[in-house]
Amino acid sequence: MTALEKIGPQPTRLGGTALYDWDYLVQEDRAHRLIYTDPAIFEAEMRHIFGGTWTYLAHESEIANANDFITRRMGLRPLIIVRDSDGKIRALYNRCTHRGTTLCRWEKGNTKSFQCPYHGWNFLNTGKLRGVPWPEGYADDMRDPKYNLAQVPRVESYRGFIFGTLNLDALPLNEHLGPIATIIDEWLGRNPGGKVVVCEANRFRYKGNWKLAYDNSCDGYHVAYSHRSLLETENRFAGENAKGMAYYRNSPDTQPMYMRYTGHGNHFKDKRPNLEKRPGGLWALESAHPGMEHYEADFIRRYGDRAFALLDLAGSEPVNINVFPNFSLLGNHIQVFEPVSVAETNAIWYGTMIVDADGSLGADAVTDINALRMRTQEGFPNFGEVDDIANFEQIQRGLMAIEDEWVYMNRGLGIPDRVKTHEDGSITAPATDEAFMREHFKEWKRLMLARPNFAIQREP
Ligand code: FES
Ligand SMILES: [Fe+2]
Repeated sequence: MTALEKIGPQPTRLGGTALYDWDYLVQEDRAHRLIYTDPAIFEAEMRHIFGGTWTYLAHESEIANANDFITRRMGLRPLIIVRDSDGKIRALYNRCTHRGTTLCRWEKGNTKSFQCPYHGWNFLNTGKLRGVPWPEGYADDMRDPKYNLAQVPRVESYRGFIFGTLNLDALPLNEHLGPIATIIDEWLGRNPGGKVVVCEANRFRYKGNWKLAYDNSCDGYHVAYSHRSLLETENRFAGENAKGMAYYRNSPDTQPMYMRYTGHGNHFKDKRPNLEKRPGGLWALESAHPGMEHYEADFIRRYGDRAFALLDLAGSEPVNINVFPNFSLLGNHIQVFEPVSVAETNAIWYGTMIVDADGSLGADAVTDINALRMRTQEGFPNFGEVDDIANFEQIQRGLMAIEDEWVYMNRGLGIPDRVKTHEDGSITAPATDEAFMREHFKEWKRLMLARPNFAIQREP
């Protein structure tokens, strides 16, 4: 049993933002600039959003073995995500219980205990205080659980993706994910054994609010304009066989791709209906990246008939799956949004590899596919993300015009039969509609108004 500690007087209603009129700040068709620029709202979000709902923390493959750890964040809380000696996954607060310094300054590693760099208190990877230097100097019983590290009380995984919440009343993770879990299953399902292994990341930091990235995660309206230079680069030599995101060029709303909102702030943009269903159909759309023609020729030479099916395993799946507030699956990548301050955010793209779970591919093919998957970092993650980040930074600048208060998200709203609500409550709309944004802001507002049952826990 682990001791639960309720946090602060209950209920706390948003501290410094108690008098804010949330219905005014977020309306059906527009949002107020303050939600992107006000430090008090940001601070409230760090509890009500990054704490009140499930936040993505890490992937199980990053801590595959007992005593593996990585350091991450939940909102601004520094965490150590660890697989303890018994194999249990924990999210420990990376915060020494003595005087509050971060305990672990490494990004990752393997250890049974953490020693604080300041005065040397030593903690087991279960979070329990193991010992302190010269304990005779304390009259207090240092076995009191208050000295054990705080930890996130609820940590759950879905198919390897680890999420955490401080809210004891939050739905179980799989119910919270609901229909988006099926899309995650499909994203994983094209890989052997339905698995990926997370590898290193491509890291960006931009000077803008974290929500600007989430607002863009399902946005099909900006592609042809914001990413024009990328589209032109991809297609300079392609002629009629346009690649990459070329299906945004002409009337994207009449294409079979669409967006779907599935509840709890989660949505996806599905460009898979644009694919030709044949071996090599996905690879044919793969955007230009250095050396790809050489790789393709090499695959054909070495793998013959299997080459195009194998190349599809390296191709970027054309679906953006977004789990509110900080997680996206795009192409072959996991993207995580990490707030830094009201006007600063990390946007991190983790690469993923496949594993030959049942040995059917063979070691050579797996190595070749994974090498090529890494090259896909040189497509959109490097040359598209910079376009988006430039927009986020310029929005943050634009929103400093304080008298001009509103951000509009009304594309598709009020046009008969355009936005469809289905029996399961999910909502579909053409690819360029902003229905996804209107819906995730309803969830944002619900969480900001809620009185979550917050707790942390410590080993007894
Ligand atoms: S702050 Fe960690 S031992 Fe003093
Ligand atoms: Fe974009």
